Amino acid sequence: MTQTLPSIEIDSFWLPRKASTVAQDLDWAFYYVYGWSVLMFIGVVAAMLYFAYRYRRRTDKDVTSEIDHSTKLEVIWTAIPVAIVVSIFFVGLKGYIDAMVAPASAYEIQVTAQKWSWVFTYPNGKISMNELAVPKDRPVRLIMSSKDVIHSLWIPEFRIKQDVVPGNYTTLWFEATEESETALLCTEYCGTSHSDMLATVKVLPEDKFQEFLEDGADADMPPAELGKKVFASSGCGACHSLEGVKGVGPALNGIFGKTHEMSDGSQVVVDEAYLRESITVSNAKLVKGFPPVMPVFKGVLNDRQVDALVAFIKSQSQ
Ligand code: CUA
Repeated sequence: MTQTLPSIEIDSFWLPRKASTVAQDLDWAFYYVYGWSVLMFIGVVAAMLYFAYRYRRRTDKDVTSEIDHSTKLEVIWTAIPVAIVVSIFFVGLKGYIDAMVAPASAYEIQVTAQKWSWVFTYPNGKISMNELAVPKDRPVRLIMSSKDVIHSLWIPEFRIKQDVVPGNYTTLWFEATEESETALLCTEYCGTSHSDMLATVKVLPEDKFQEFLEDGADADMPPAELGKKVFASSGCGACHSLEGVKGVGPALNGIFGKTHEMSDGSQVVVDEAYLRESITVSNAKLVKGFPPVMPVFKGVLNDRQVDALVAFIKSQSQ
């Protein structure tokens, strides 16, 4: 099961939709440099063609005259490019400062990256996996860290990207300008399921965002059904098939009640306790032939979610 991602709308020949405030500045800087590059390209090619024609060899007696330097020409061809480069610097600097310095009032969300999912923790303790909900027209600051290797958080339509590093914090900020959904991707190669390390960004109006924060909509869902939801939102399907296909991890259908051989040679019966342990401390017991790469979900999923996952996996064996 692979996650689906909102598509990135290409609404013109140029860059994707601009959905944050800094996108304006950054796109302007890009097109400014791009514009100069096109002009230079046309100028250089035109001059080259002209000179090739104008100074072509006409007879064997053509001899180039003595050429001394021209101070006037040298000043012109130095001053103009310097002025262009300096202007590019200031256009870039403005966009860079706007993109780097978050407003002091920014709403802060903690981001934890681990192979191969994103966990977002809100100031009220709400935890969301692979779904980042943010209020519209309010600056949001992401404080990011990784549990394992280097990842990189990228939201193309917001024009923001930053490495997420273990043992350290990096930050990013943005202010979303449109009520919509957009894609968040990992853009640092981080192992087998790097390309499945995706999340959805939902930009919500203030009242909907508050509803999201208080969300208790799962309260009366049957465990196995909630488990299915958690399975999808936690990215379990990136490694675990439900159709008996061996992936990064073992397939999870039809395993309940069976006896499995572990990498240390011991035999383990797949029951509720074993499943719970495998989810929360993940690599405590390893099925023979699989690498110890599963992320630890203790502190990421609450008890109710773990119970639900166990119930869901159990339901896949009936
Ligand atoms: Cu995480 Cu690529």
